[in-house]
Amino acid sequence: MYHYKDLGLVNTREMFSKAMAGKYAIPAYNFNNMEQLQAIITACIETKSPVILQVSSGARKYANQILLRYMAMGAMEMIKNAGIKLPVALHLDHGDTFELCVSCIESGFSSVMIDGSAHSFQDNIQLTKKVVDYAHQYDVSVEGELGVLAGIEDEVSHEASHYTNPDDVEEFVSKTGVDSLAISIGTSHGAYKFKLKPGESVPPLRFDILEEVERRIPGFPIVLHGASSVMPEYVDMINKFGGKMENTAGIPEEQLRRAAASSVCKVNIDSDGRLAMTAKIREVFATKPGEFDPRKYLGPARDALVEMYKHKNTHVLGSAEHA
Ligand code: G3H
Ligand code: 13P
Ligand code: ZN
Repeated sequence: MYHYKDLGLVNTREMFSKAMAGKYAIPAYNFNNMEQLQAIITACIETKSPVILQVSSGARKYANQILLRYMAMGAMEMIKNAGIKLPVALHLDHGDTFELCVSCIESGFSSVMIDGSAHSFQDNIQLTKKVVDYAHQYDVSVEGELGVLAGIEDEVSHEASHYTNPDDVEEFVSKTGVDSLAISIGTSHGAYKFKLKPGESVPPLRFDILEEVERRIPGFPIVLHGASSVMPEYVDMINKFGGKMENTAGIPEEQLRRAAASSVCKVNIDSDGRLAMTAKIREVFATKPGEFDPRKYLGPARDALVEMYKHKNTHVLGSAEHA
């Protein structure tokens, strides 16, 4: 058993209480490889932002769970070396079983999500409580989910979303003991969040549901999944350099700013990182067809990621200068 505190990581409790009081949100960025992790850490060091490093079960399979733990340890050393103190949590994204949560906790994660949103309300409560009872023995924080986001949720694809029912949240939170709650208010996973007809704009998030949730569980940390903006500059670049991504749409930044100032304390972003990386790699391949050194295309991709994460921390989530 590796305990996260020995790795220099923190759980999400203090991060969230500070974010709630300061009216900003903690970025939760997914990583699967070295360049993504370097970019996240570099951006958070340069903007002095706390951060949640997110690992999905797909990432664990892709990168190897042992290597991932050592990568997180390496990231903590990198931060120490930079001479600043940065609160960093290592979080399981969309855990779907008790066993997966246990495995992550045993390998040094400081926070886990148990996503029981595909189950019935009562089964979700039962599964989430089981994870909470285990995780809290090790002071690991737990995120639960109520409501279903459209798109891919940990290899489970949902055609339609179901908004969170505010009538459910008090019972869920009190019966499970979770530390934060992911809710569905109109975001969705991936780069194709809305099917827009020509001339249509992105529909606003359901802030009315969020406000009702806040009324039912005041001061309780809320999590927003599927919060990439699907930044047009990267989609355009992908299309310019030989890609084909049509009818993409994401969450406008001003809506994320509004959410970050509310009880939303954690904002999940993965797709924007994928887009920035792909855009830069495509640009290098298209403009320098003779290039074959991976550092010459992964390097610029990493630089683009750093700029994107700095932008999010500083201008969207407001987490910059809160380390
Ligand atoms: O919500 C899903 C995250 O973007 C992780 O995606 O399961 O393909 O790693 P993944
Ligand atoms: P995006 O696909 O919008 O980046 O959402 C990521 C996410 O919610 C990870 O859990
Ligand atoms: Zn998610």
